[in-house]
Amino acid sequence: MSNQDHKFFDLFMLIIGVLVGITILLVFLARYIAEQTEDMATDSMYQQQLEDRIKPVGRAALPGDEPEQAGAAVTKIAVATPVATTLSGPQVYNAACVSCHGTGIAGAPKIGDAAAWADRIATGTDQLTKHAISGFQGSTGYMPPKGGRTDLSDQEISGAVEYMVSESR
Ligand code: HEC
Repeated sequence: MSNQDHKFFDLFMLIIGVLVGITILLVFLARYIAEQTEDMATDSMYQQQLEDRIKPVGRAALPGDEPEQAGAAVTKIAVATPVATTLSGPQVYNAACVSCHGTGIAGAPKIGDAAAWADRIATGTDQLTKHAISGFQGSTGYMPPKGGRTDLSDQEISGAVEYMVSESR
């Protein structure tokens, strides 16, 4: 080997040695850091702080939830209290009956059509109301119970029948 080669080889080995040293240092450093974080993960105080930091700022409380269970920062969802209302005859008619009785589709006696109603009115309002509430299969078609709106009260249906009858005499 020439003198130059010797020099190169020495320098080369030196650099390799330094690099190996750094590598070993990094390995130990990495293990040290890993140990530290492992301690943290099992530390209950650290866990508590972590949870405090990432907890949601608020929670929606559904009606019926216990207030203390939902916590302090609670967004209450306002729920409208249902108010019992009774719809008038024309209101019920326009909401539930007009779809069939407005045009007289499917054999429904059309409102205002005196000829179609005369025989029915002759049977009495009680009978008509009973048919409107319970449903009725007649000779011209099928009248579903309460016109399909079973959420309506008997009284509301009765009002609608009276309205339809008064409009069809
Ligand atoms: C899906 C269509 C439909 C809806 C909605 C409907 N009806 Fe009828 N209704 C009929 C049909 C069809 C008849 C005729 C039945 C027959 O006589 O063959 C009828 C008949 C009637 C009669 C006469 C019953 C009789 O004894 O002759 C009354 C009263 C009546 N409906 C009231 C109502 C009221 C009140 C509503 C709304 C709450 C309503 N209907 C909604 C289809 C409907």
